[in-house]
Amino acid sequence: MKSLGLYVHIPFCKSRCLYCDFISSKLTDDSALKLYSQKVRDEIDILGEQGLFDNHQLDTIYFGGGTPSLLKIDYFRTILESKFLNRRYSLKEFTIEANPGSIDYDTIIALKKYGLNRVSIGVQSLNDKSLNAIGRIHDKDKAIEAIKLAIKAGVEVSVDLMLGIPYQTKEDIKFFIDTVVDLGVNHISMYMLSLEEGTALTKLVEEGKLEVASDDEKVELLDYASSLLKEKGLYRYEVSNFARKGKEAIHNTKYWRLEDYIGVGVGSHSLVDNKRFYNPDNFEDYYACINRKELAHIKEEDLTESDVEEEYIMLAFRLSDGINLVDYKNKFGIDFDEKYKNQINKYNKFLNINNNNISIKEEYLSVMNSIVVDFLS
Ligand SMILES: C[S@@+](CC[C@H](N)C(=O)[O-])C[C@H]1O[C@@H](n2cnc3c(N)ncnc32)[C@H](O)[C@@H]1O
Ligand code: SF4
Repeated sequence: MKSLGLYVHIPFCKSRCLYCDFISSKLTDDSALKLYSQKVRDEIDILGEQGLFDNHQLDTIYFGGGTPSLLKIDYFRTILESKFLNRRYSLKEFTIEANPGSIDYDTIIALKKYGLNRVSIGVQSLNDKSLNAIGRIHDKDKAIEAIKLAIKAGVEVSVDLMLGIPYQTKEDIKFFIDTVVDLGVNHISMYMLSLEEGTALTKLVEEGKLEVASDDEKVELLDYASSLLKEKGLYRYEVSNFARKGKEAIHNTKYWRLEDYIGVGVGSHSLVDNKRFYNPDNFEDYYACINRKELAHIKEEDLTESDVEEEYIMLAFRLSDGINLVDYKNKFGIDFDEKYKNQINKYNKFLNINNNNISIKEEYLSVMNSIVVDFLS
């Protein structure tokens, strides 16, 4: 049986961070979360009745957002007790994303009964001036408290760190890494700030009211952070992700390995048997589909073999393991090193090559796009 990941999107936040353009709306009333969790459960039931979970073994669950930590335990239960999830539990990993401003100890403990073993906390920075400038609802102390709380609850903790935000220095990054690793964090995701169109931060930067790092400076910060983490025993297993061996994110690795996952909720998407499905990105259309007891798939894409190959190469090169030659041959029926021998020669000094894998050397991962583009023909 093929393994399957379940992604549940929770599109609510207490307030919008100035840089963010994720699908999420400001939570004004708890009843909106209650209704939403019922609809998500209904969506899972519809998917189950239409056989989308058949021939698959659900082994990872990921609640992302938005802010999943806003959900009360009863709302998590509403979703998790769908009959289609209940009988398929054999979880290797169950993660929820949490904002330090809304994490709750008792909820984590209660979720452990459903298999929760990981919390991904959006810390972003431990410099109060930076946190304030990007519109976070928490300060440094609250973020540290959140990490301690999750570790005390006995789950693995991952934290997000943003690079290139206002007022950030190299010392801040060192302080961040020293602090979180000493607290027991075994996984860090690092995101270079992206100035998204229409966000408040982009406007402030365009008006010259706030300064952010340039692209080159961000790459330098990422490489600096990467070297600090290496000294602490966390290796770069993906362009933006660092972990101790054995603590890599299993669910997210499915995305990078083009394995099957089902996304439920507003704005989510799925990949099942080389088909991609997209849900509506607004509540109205999403609820309308669910109320009609229909799949909430507004768009369906049948990936051709060449689409799959292109995505496979693009994503696999993000990983420190890179292209697995046997897996590639099994999937596409040809030898990767034969088909791409010219490119492999051209980029030889940037690549690790052995009998099993071809990957981009760790020190070049930050600039991988300029290499990978030549493999996409
Ligand atoms: C869904 S959020 C994580 C959970 C929660 N919403 C929070 O922010 O605490 C996913 C992560 O994406 C990153 N992110 C969001 N917008 C970004 C942007 N414009 N540039 C870089 N990173 C961004 C942040 O690090 C954020 O923690
Ligand atoms: S970064 Fe997280 S908390 Fe902030 S608006 Fe985006 S999804 Fe919400």
